Amino acid sequence: MNRTEPQAAPSFTQDAFVTWVRQATPYIHAHRGRTFVIAFGGEALLDSRFPDLVHDIALLHGLGIHLVLVHGARPQIEQRLREQGAELRYVNGLRVTDERALACVKEAAGIVRVEIEALLSLGLANSPMAGVRIPVVSGNFVTARPLGVIDGVDYAHTGLVRRVDQHSLKALLDQGMVVLMPPLGYSPTGEVFNLSAADVARSAAAALGADKLIFLLEGRAVLEGSGLPSNLLTQDIDRLLQSAKLSDELASYLRAGAEACRQGVKRVHLVERCIAGALMRELLTHRGSGTLISAEPYERLRSARIEDIPGILDLLRPLEEHGILIRRTREHVETDVAHFHVLDCDGLVIACAALYPYPAEGMAELACLAVHPDYRGAGRGERLLAYLSELARDQGLRRLFVLTTQTAQWFQERGFTSAGIEALPNDKRALYNTRRNSKVFVKDLCSSPQMP
Ligand SMILES: CC(C)(COP(=O)(O)OP(=O)(O)OC[C@H]1O[C@@H](n2cnc3c(N)ncnc32)[C@H](O)[C@@H]1OP(=O)(O)O)[C@@H](O)C(=O)NCCC(=O)NCCS
Repeated sequence: MNRTEPQAAPSFTQDAFVTWVRQATPYIHAHRGRTFVIAFGGEALLDSRFPDLVHDIALLHGLGIHLVLVHGARPQIEQRLREQGAELRYVNGLRVTDERALACVKEAAGIVRVEIEALLSLGLANSPMAGVRIPVVSGNFVTARPLGVIDGVDYAHTGLVRRVDQHSLKALLDQGMVVLMPPLGYSPTGEVFNLSAADVARSAAAALGADKLIFLLEGRAVLEGSGLPSNLLTQDIDRLLQSAKLSDELASYLRAGAEACRQGVKRVHLVERCIAGALMRELLTHRGSGTLISAEPYERLRSARIEDIPGILDLLRPLEEHGILIRRTREHVETDVAHFHVLDCDGLVIACAALYPYPAEGMAELACLAVHPDYRGAGRGERLLAYLSELARDQGLRRLFVLTTQTAQWFQERGFTSAGIEALPNDKRALYNTRRNSKVFVKDLCSSPQMP
């Protein structure tokens, strides 16, 4: 737009757009340099909206995310077999890949690969890919072994992943390549095996120690008539796999997801591919769109690290501007980072608090307690308070104090009682700012319950 043109007052849509970009920014920063493995079935290529998915993938690449794409090719394989009057045979839910099926697998995998490469090469001026150059690489990264003979059935060229060459993958990702992995593997004896895309994706994510493994589901992620919960722990999945009625696709992705988490992949996401924009919403919004699987609870309370400082400052600045917290410079927070503790939600700092011990007086100050506005009212403030109370107790301290101007009631409701400034440790009293006129509240840690 020409900057000198008169501009119309911003419409709701423009405001919404700006708000959206601002809300997505922390995710954009958090994802940069991370490794994501994204798996999708061959069905995706048959969908007229597949170019939209490729554009989203290109955008993620543009945001500096290291991407491994794992594709299936089941409909393409089945079509080729049908053309020959044959079909893929399944025994006990496992496919049997005979010589004829293997030839179709190779052909289908080749075609799928070329189509994806072509779409990632698009650079038309009026498309979302304008000016983008995405180098894509594929190769013999997967060593496979035969599934073998089970209950007398020879599964022939159906295989399992034996190992993934993570060194080559890492080197390629570090060079800015997008790695494309077919559902194929090779044995040291030169044989080719037909693998499941879920197995390849899980193994690649585990070998790379990927930050995210994302399965784009073809069907609906439905559990007993309703959608899957937005968060699942690996132990929930074990229970579901034993007790719930799940589609084969969902069960195989849940199984692979739980296994990936146990093998060190931090987050596994199940996203319904057919919902427009679902991948972007899952990765760039607070709410997400799918189901997040993790080995540990989604949010982690931990000591702050130096790289958390921008996130801590983002939480504190608006509160300082409203006079709720006193101003602290970046240097001040950097120097004091060892006192800070954060609630980390998928790499984002959503709450923080600091604990300053005064051992001579057997006291500790609770400072900088802040929960991101989007995450308030769900017990996070209380969780931080309980955690820091526990830390103070562990250090042999008996009382916790806080200076507050606008949050007195919150502390009172959690066992703090009003006190005069004479209750403060000497060093703190010397620094007390009478103009700010903060109220002092103290809590006896010996009489308060232990953290659950
Ligand atoms: C105070 C704060 C940390 C609470 O975090 P939280 O995760 O929302 O806390 P919880 O979910 O444990 O508690 C929520 C309850 O506290 C209440 N609450 C929130 N702010 C409050 C305030 N200033 N005074 C009194 N009660 C308050 C909420 O209304 C809610 O009560 P309800 O459950 O009856 O509706 C958060 O509101 C915040 O960051 N506030 C701004 C910073 C601040 O005041 N920090 C303290 C500086 S001394």
